Amino acid sequence: MNILVIGSGGREHAIITSISKSDKCSKIYALPGNGGTELLAENIQGDVNDFQFIKKITLEHKISLVFVGPEDPIVNGIYDFFKSNIELKDIKIIAPSKQAGLLEGSKDFAKDFMEKYNIPTAKHKTFSIDNINQADNFLESMNPPYVLKADGLAAGKGVLILKDLNEAKSELRNMILDRKFGNSSTKVVIEEFLDGIELSCFVLTDGKNYKVLPFAKDYKKIGEGDKGLNTGGMGAVSPVPFLDNKFLSKIQNKIIKPTIEGIVKENMKYNGFVFIGLIKVNDEPYVIEYNVRMGDPETEVVFPRLKNDLLELFDSMGTSKFKDIKLNISDNHAATIILVSGGYPESYEKGKIIEGLNDLSEVSVFHAGTKKKSDSFITSGGRVLAITSMGNNFKSALKNSYKQINKIKFDGMNYRKDIGFDLL
Ligand code: AMP
Ligand code: GLY
Repeated sequence: MNILVIGSGGREHAIITSISKSDKCSKIYALPGNGGTELLAENIQGDVNDFQFIKKITLEHKISLVFVGPEDPIVNGIYDFFKSNIELKDIKIIAPSKQAGLLEGSKDFAKDFMEKYNIPTAKHKTFSIDNINQADNFLESMNPPYVLKADGLAAGKGVLILKDLNEAKSELRNMILDRKFGNSSTKVVIEEFLDGIELSCFVLTDGKNYKVLPFAKDYKKIGEGDKGLNTGGMGAVSPVPFLDNKFLSKIQNKIIKPTIEGIVKENMKYNGFVFIGLIKVNDEPYVIEYNVRMGDPETEVVFPRLKNDLLELFDSMGTSKFKDIKLNISDNHAATIILVSGGYPESYEKGKIIEGLNDLSEVSVFHAGTKKKSDSFITSGGRVLAITSMGNNFKSALKNSYKQINKIKFDGMNYRKDIGFDLL
């Protein structure tokens, strides 16, 4: 089979790495890919939201399966574009429909969905220009800190957590009236702050049956001790050490089952991942958010633990075979550390030469913001590399990742030295 992978991050390099091991895999194309994907796939330059271009390359390269990594093309309706096109409709596409994409693309929609299907989440109310006058009363009725969320996609930046009531009132106006996050913040969800520890849950579903993949925990803040600005993710571990059987069964019964039942009852077309961002508060799970794709950097620790043929698994979706495939998960722990450009998540320079990649042992290096330049790689983004190791426990996995990182160098390189600190 020829495969097209859409996206350019560590997630896509990790997915390509897994798919490339399949006997069913003939050739992989990446749109646009990165320096790392170029080692296993043919990179094609282009825009992930240009569906006509995607159609052209899909037909030209006789693609049988398309994997969609990032949320943008999903929320823009790439699944529906394929299914409504006579030449594309029989090509397998790993992505949910535009309607299901609203679970990530509209926090208000996701909240209504959770309410309807009794899925535990923070108490909330949605505000827009029509009812902004009532927002002050609502904020006054809550305890700080105040959580304000732009309704639409905001590249991970749309959530504000504020301690001060007046600041919350004024930020709400900035979001709704001054369009702080553009059209994404014409509606704002205000919700109760949940105090707990977060974990990421991944479910692969074809809209009928589903498989729960390994859980992971990611580290979103730039600074050690979870301080500073939010990033795309600075590291991750899988499995999650505090996820015991009792807590897992609560997640299954109170969250995963009703979520999938809701998707089925709402008649959402789904053929991809449901990423459930969870928080554990007093031994109870709550949903912080839904995403309709895999997480990054979680992918870089989840898929190295999956021993199944990933392409076979994807290819079985929508057929009776999917239900019968049993996931074969390694007992080993995986840990990944993200190397980022100096200055990230604010402004940073690109084009720095990356040294030391040939000297590494017993790690998987997943590229994110890199480009190949003759025989070496240069930086081309904020998150540059994900360094994943496996071990008997998360500490030994982390230890090897950190040991190998000492051999890697690029001008301005930064990374968190405390991934897993809260799990000890
Ligand atoms: P989201 O984009 O909804 O995942 O929010 C980004 C981050 O903000 C989450 O990963 C949490 O760390 C934090 N967050 C979001 N909602 C809440 C909440 N209700 N209580 C506490 N923290 C939250
Ligand atoms: N690691 C969080 C995300 O992918 O959104």
